[in-house]
Amino acid sequence: MRTDSNSLESYWMPFTANRDFKADPRLVAKSQGVYCWDHKGGRVIDGSSGLFCCPAGHGREEIADAVHQQMVTNDYVAAFGTAHPGQFTLAEMIARQLPEPINHVFFTNSGSESIDTAIKIALAFHRAKGEGQRTRFVSRERAYHGVNMGGTSLSGMVRNRETFHTTLPNVSLIRHTWDPSEPFVRGQADKGAELADDLERVAANFGGGTVAAVFVEPIAGSTGVLVPPMGYLQRLRDICDRHGMLLVFDEVITGFGRTGKGFASESFGVIPDMITMAKALTNGAIPMGAVAVRDEIYETVTGAAGEGAIELFHGYTYSGHPAACAAGIATQEIFEAEALYERAAELSDYFLDGIWSLKDHKAVRDLRGYGMLAGVEVHDDGVPGRRGGRMQKDLFWNGMHVKFTGDVGIVAPPFVSERSHIDEMIGCLSKTLDMHV
Ligand SMILES: Cc1ncc(COP(=O)(O)O)c(C=O)c1O
Repeated sequence: MRTDSNSLESYWMPFTANRDFKADPRLVAKSQGVYCWDHKGGRVIDGSSGLFCCPAGHGREEIADAVHQQMVTNDYVAAFGTAHPGQFTLAEMIARQLPEPINHVFFTNSGSESIDTAIKIALAFHRAKGEGQRTRFVSRERAYHGVNMGGTSLSGMVRNRETFHTTLPNVSLIRHTWDPSEPFVRGQADKGAELADDLERVAANFGGGTVAAVFVEPIAGSTGVLVPPMGYLQRLRDICDRHGMLLVFDEVITGFGRTGKGFASESFGVIPDMITMAKALTNGAIPMGAVAVRDEIYETVTGAAGEGAIELFHGYTYSGHPAACAAGIATQEIFEAEALYERAAELSDYFLDGIWSLKDHKAVRDLRGYGMLAGVEVHDDGVPGRRGGRMQKDLFWNGMHVKFTGDVGIVAPPFVSERSHIDEMIGCLSKTLDMHV
């Protein structure tokens, strides 16, 4: 067995320009707090909390200790038909943070698995109610719901679907909410709630009674932080109610404090039927996702099965893995003990002031933001996404990690950041933008 190779060839990197990366690699060798260190020893501030996963900062010993303890006490428990205490504890900790009547939590191992699970729960719910004809799903342009077949089918990003034709049938996309003619809107736009009426058009064209569920990210994150206009989410809720469609909030990015409250559902005052989550659930330390559902969904699906019968023929070998639960419990304890959601809410204005200080920069096309999440969109250089890709690299060597999608940098600092860290991030962004005029 080879163990001494320095080659980068064997590993096929996800969502990465492999050839380009391997010619000029950017390896992270260490991470602590809000910083990482590259393989040459350079310090890099983590402006995107990894991939929006690590609001409590890197290297949290409480999480590492909890996982270690769990591993030496009870390393794996069969996920089907048996259980361990951590699953119940964590499910309850999550449910306590969710709006009533969302009280039941199904564990997965990622955001993508959460989406596919939510799709299947929606189908199972309608079937249990005797409405098995509801097989259509609605999503939005510029949506990102992960990369499994369900999430790919709901994707509103052309590059994520054009190669993969074998996606789910019966998916309708409604428009996204970004208005390019109104740039630099901080927070929610006043106009645009009527875009939700696209959903009525789907109902008019296909029959409202054929739609199983509508999936939306309360703030579309991965495609560049598209904040919902005032009243938009409530309007979606009302239309869903009118037609018996389930409303699913994909809170894989917005969950666990990113909007200044536990969940965006609370920030925007709209209660969906299901909430998908992952990422910050374990502070990114161990892969884990979850789908939380209303009582009615859980009760209808479980109630429809015969006595002693399995109710939902779905689950993963690693659903609620002991290590993930230990990491999740320790993470939730940190969130509470350090009041990190409140801290995110307090820091948000300072952070967004910093982002908005870039407004007049020649390279900047638009700025969008809410809570501790902001999109910095640069003008393309003639080839969409090329400048963004170059900026991501330049930023890294200038000392900051930012996840870019196309020409939008998605800035999402850890909540444990101090104001000086925010200043450092804005300084790196400004310096790097200067290199791109
Ligand atoms: C809103 C949303 N849903 C789903 C996913 C997929 O999550 P994962 O990469 O953990 O599968 C992501 C990932 O960024 C996301 O932002």
